[in-house]
Amino acid sequence: MPVITCIEDLRVLAKRRVPRMFYDYADSGSYTESTYRANTADFQAIKLRQRVAVNMENRSTRCQMIDQDVAMPVAIAPTGLTGMQHADGEILAARAAQAFGVPFTLSTMSICSIEDVAAATQAPFWFQLYVMRDRDFIERLIARAQAAQCSALMLTLDLQILGQRHKDIKNGLSSPPKPTLKNILNLMTKPRWCLGMAGTRRHGFGNIVGHAKGVGDLSSLSAWTAEQFDPALSWADVEWIKKRWGGKLILKGIMDVEDARLAANSGADALVVSNHGGRQLDGAPSSIQALPAIAEAVGRDIEVWMDGGIRSGQDVLKAWALGARGTLIGRSFLYGLGALGEQGVRSCLEIIRKELDVTMAFTGHTQIQNVDRSILLPGSYPV
Ligand code: GLV
Repeated sequence: MPVITCIEDLRVLAKRRVPRMFYDYADSGSYTESTYRANTADFQAIKLRQRVAVNMENRSTRCQMIDQDVAMPVAIAPTGLTGMQHADGEILAARAAQAFGVPFTLSTMSICSIEDVAAATQAPFWFQLYVMRDRDFIERLIARAQAAQCSALMLTLDLQILGQRHKDIKNGLSSPPKPTLKNILNLMTKPRWCLGMAGTRRHGFGNIVGHAKGVGDLSSLSAWTAEQFDPALSWADVEWIKKRWGGKLILKGIMDVEDARLAANSGADALVVSNHGGRQLDGAPSSIQALPAIAEAVGRDIEVWMDGGIRSGQDVLKAWALGARGTLIGRSFLYGLGALGEQGVRSCLEIIRKELDVTMAFTGHTQIQNVDRSILLPGSYPV
């Protein structure tokens, strides 16, 4: 077993252990992947100011996201097909998040269902909703999230149509994988993954198959999206969902100040500055570049979070400094999950927390709440 010291180590191990189509699904952006690459590259360009001879004792990264106590300003992002990175992946990641003290978000397009995750955890989790044409199904999904005592609903606004990811088409992405020669040969090189999958019945889209009318075999994410996601989604629908849900609401996929104002006016509790991990509009700016203007415009009216490109605690600190009061991690935790299951997600969270803690100390702070953009080198960050 290699020694794991950073998220990149988890990525390398995940690439070895996860079947190609699922590793590629997680690790791609849309079209030329320029936005996907910018998400990480733009974090690298931001420089921190080192301060010395400041008392570093008694540090804390604890804070709150939508009034919930968190060990650090990080939550697990909703990611599709998580249970294909590792058998029962959503359950394992939710357990790791619970043990660590950060929120877990379950995707509509998950393998384990809302009920599966609720039965396997005690801490309330968040549920991410995609809006589909079938409003009865949406009502039932919301009711199921309520019955599972989910403590927030995260509505994704940027994926009513799907940005093309070339590799998914080339790999023939489906869940479960089709028994083609190419897939069988690839799976033969992933014995741990296969053994895990042989030990669970959860191989399809658990929230959908058996719940949405007329869906028996839902093997293709892109076909389902094209047929079922509602391209007419509007702010009036957001209002309808907010009323129907009645609890904390998070709006994900905001990249523009105008939309951020609409999100704040909607009465939602938080918005997530997000370009969907560079998987939708290729050519959009990185999330960290879009963040400061949005935080400046609406940060007093609504909690502003961000996702996209976070691979370290340094990134979390930079996002916080630029006005994010929370961050979501997607690929970072998926690498941990694909590499080492529940233990890998724990490692991911521990790595990020330690990096955040030490980096905060180097910038002269002991409490995350006191960190602001003065820790950044002027001229090195977006405004
Ligand atoms: C789904 O959320 C995806 O980005 O594939």
